[in-house]
Amino acid sequence: MHKPSQKISRLVATTAIAATVLAAQAPNVLAVTQPHPDQELNQEAVKKQLHVEGVEQLENGVKLDLSSDQTAFIRLFSEDMAKVSILKEGEEEYFSEAITKKEWGTPSFDVSEEKSEITLTTDEITIKIKKEPFGVKFLDKEGNVINEDYMQNGSGYDGEKPYVYKKTTEDEAFYGFGEQSGLEVNQRGESIGMFNTDAYAYGTDTKYLYTSIPFFIGLKNEKAYGMFFDNTNRSYFEMASESDDYYYFYADDGTLNYYFMYGPEIEDVLDRYTELTGKMDKPAKWTLGLHQSKWEYSAEDIERVAETYREKEIPVDTMHFDIDYMDEYRVFTWSDKFGDEALHQKLDAMNFKKITINDPAVKKDPGYFMYDEGTANDYWAKNPDGSNFVGEVWPGESMFPDFSKEEVREWWASKHDILFDKGIDGLWNDMNEPAVFDGPYHTMPLDVTFGEGENKRTHEEYHNLYGHDEAEATYDAFEMYKPNERPFVLTRDMYAGSQRYAALWTGDNVSEWDHLEMSLPMNMNVGLSGVPFVGNDIGGFAGRPDAEMFARWIEVGAFLPFSRIHYDSDKKAEGKKQAQEPWAFGQEVEDISKKYIEMRYKLMPYLYNAFIDAAEQGTPVQQPLVYQFQDDENTYNVSDQFMFGKEMMLAPIVEEGQTERDVYLPEGETWVDYWTGEEFDGGQTITTEAQLDHLPIYVKKDSMIPTREVQQYTGEKPLENLVLDTYLNEKATYSFYEDDGATLDYKDGEYNVTDLEVKRKGKHIEFKKKEKATGYDTDLESYTLKLNGEEAPKRVRAAKAKYKEVSSVEEVKSTQESFFYDNEEQALYVNVPADEKHKVKIFFNGKKDKAGKSDKKK
Ligand code: GLC
Repeated sequence: MHKPSQKISRLVATTAIAATVLAAQAPNVLAVTQPHPDQELNQEAVKKQLHVEGVEQLENGVKLDLSSDQTAFIRLFSEDMAKVSILKEGEEEYFSEAITKKEWGTPSFDVSEEKSEITLTTDEITIKIKKEPFGVKFLDKEGNVINEDYMQNGSGYDGEKPYVYKKTTEDEAFYGFGEQSGLEVNQRGESIGMFNTDAYAYGTDTKYLYTSIPFFIGLKNEKAYGMFFDNTNRSYFEMASESDDYYYFYADDGTLNYYFMYGPEIEDVLDRYTELTGKMDKPAKWTLGLHQSKWEYSAEDIERVAETYREKEIPVDTMHFDIDYMDEYRVFTWSDKFGDEALHQKLDAMNFKKITINDPAVKKDPGYFMYDEGTANDYWAKNPDGSNFVGEVWPGESMFPDFSKEEVREWWASKHDILFDKGIDGLWNDMNEPAVFDGPYHTMPLDVTFGEGENKRTHEEYHNLYGHDEAEATYDAFEMYKPNERPFVLTRDMYAGSQRYAALWTGDNVSEWDHLEMSLPMNMNVGLSGVPFVGNDIGGFAGRPDAEMFARWIEVGAFLPFSRIHYDSDKKAEGKKQAQEPWAFGQEVEDISKKYIEMRYKLMPYLYNAFIDAAEQGTPVQQPLVYQFQDDENTYNVSDQFMFGKEMMLAPIVEEGQTERDVYLPEGETWVDYWTGEEFDGGQTITTEAQLDHLPIYVKKDSMIPTREVQQYTGEKPLENLVLDTYLNEKATYSFYEDDGATLDYKDGEYNVTDLEVKRKGKHIEFKKKEKATGYDTDLESYTLKLNGEEAPKRVRAAKAKYKEVSSVEEVKSTQESFFYDNEEQALYVNVPADEKHKVKIFFNGKKDKAGKSDKKK
């Protein structure tokens, strides 16, 4: 059983300012302050039940008159998704900024009413609504209950607080909830809170982190459903933390509305959820390369670090510019040194991409154009008396743009030419909780207001959306100034749906082993919350790692969806000046770093394709095992292994001094040790050795992984030869997507999709391909089919053409219609021209018929 653990809510309101000051200076001091203690529900109030007093059928569901002058709407958005709203008198059905798709066709459904219940049935789900007391139950088409209200408490309002109680049983697991601390992927037993918080140097039990995504997935009896509580107020999720019989969620204020979406596959739940809240865009390829950053790099440091990467031939794409590039922290300005054209030209000449940080706070400084324009146009967040709210951030006293107004977002977007004109490629939004150093609890007072007239909202309601709207404004800057480029926005704060504008990094983590360990379940749950593009500061932000920790961290870091080394200013590193570039820890760690970073670049076609799945179906890139193996209950609580895309499983070392670990191999697959070729049946736990330079990686048998030659940066060389790293038992397939990886031309059909297939047919192996889309003018000249663990072939041919045998890997890659057998590696390489029209057949000596071969090497 999963052990319940309660996350600690740091309630240091009285010492908030002290904590803030400390937090800005030293690691391991928690600045996590909340406006008020968690507000519990009044147990008397939640015992009061609602009753159905009248029913009206609607085009897509029903409207119910409830007791206490409340109204419920239960609407079907699709055959497997319903929205439940319970509204107080005078309230309207609610959609937050999270929702991108409001208009759904009307699914076909039946309604029937009996004395005690109303039933809505689609081809996928049945909803039973109990009248006395009111309660909702969701069933699949076989009549299995998937989710139901916990009838003792049901749902409704405790004063201003909307709440929903649901029944659960011990075997139900919960995932998602965006960015959560802790070492477990399964959130059963947790007390979760959502209120975006500048949580510098947070710990494994910090309750409030930067991002709020009130969405989760329930999994029980191998069937999954999604639940999205669309409420932007501070919200709470008690996930069987009090009893194994129920869980509940509620918010401080706002309306009661949630979406139920049925799987039964987790994959389907995420696809549907990201249809509702938006999918990430296809990313620019360079954003998938390595990024390097540090707070307080000088202009010279940036140049020197960039040069060192190139000298040492460690691949990297991007240098980040932290707040020091600005003129005294005035946003949209450059200091002389960082604005110097020579620096930018040097970086450009070395083919670096550049990202600048940006903070929302605008220095209160008459004469500074941002302050003057924002003030003249009335663009700032306001105190309740209508005056402008002023709070301290990096530049001292500052104003806060009211991003809830479209006009302000447009204005903000329009300022980005100041950054783009220096050749800036991507944008990094920070401090967008918004963090306010002298605010009553490290943010604005809750009664600060945003918007005007009927759009007026308090900070209490708007808080969790501040970063979301800033991300939208930043994203729009690309459309304004780089209309055919793929935007890249990195943000610290999100609400549900922010994935359509930005990637997420998980804020100011710490150079401690449990942070490396925590990063795995944290990212996996972010991925299961619709946000595939996520990463953590490699090596830890606050504090400094030692050589061993950095080595282990880069082994994981090279496989993060967003891969960036970033660290804190020296002033805050408690006297430790340890740098955090790959070469800062001696030769051994430099070699390890290079090995794994090169591997990321080699895997770029595979990684890019994983991101294409993310953009098209909401598929996480860094997946918990349960995502693909929900029929294997042993995967439900695996928190320290992950799938990197569809085919590769990583089991990193995340503990100090360890050189060995257990690895669970999910059922239903044969797993191949990536390094040794040794094969293992799924459904068992094995123990593996892992010296410092060794990251345990397992590949599914019957899979094909597209790779390429290493590049020093993503656009260095055209992709002319795609190596298909293949582990064949009977049949391996891959649908390979290719486009320019940079522009929006794919939207006009400029992309290719090629279905590749390798099949064992008795004594020979056949390779064939089928072009499904051909709109992109590819550089691809050939495929190198690499068959691992095969014998030397007798001959290779395609129709009448006989492939010739060559004598090295290099030669085979550059010679069309050739093959090479590497004895030592036991791998066969076959070069197939990209325009090969025929099946390629590989014949063996026939001593052994490998079809259906299942005898393991061990
Ligand atoms: C915040 C960010 C961190 C950045 C620093 C200075 O702490 O989370 O990444 O380096 O501010 O801008």
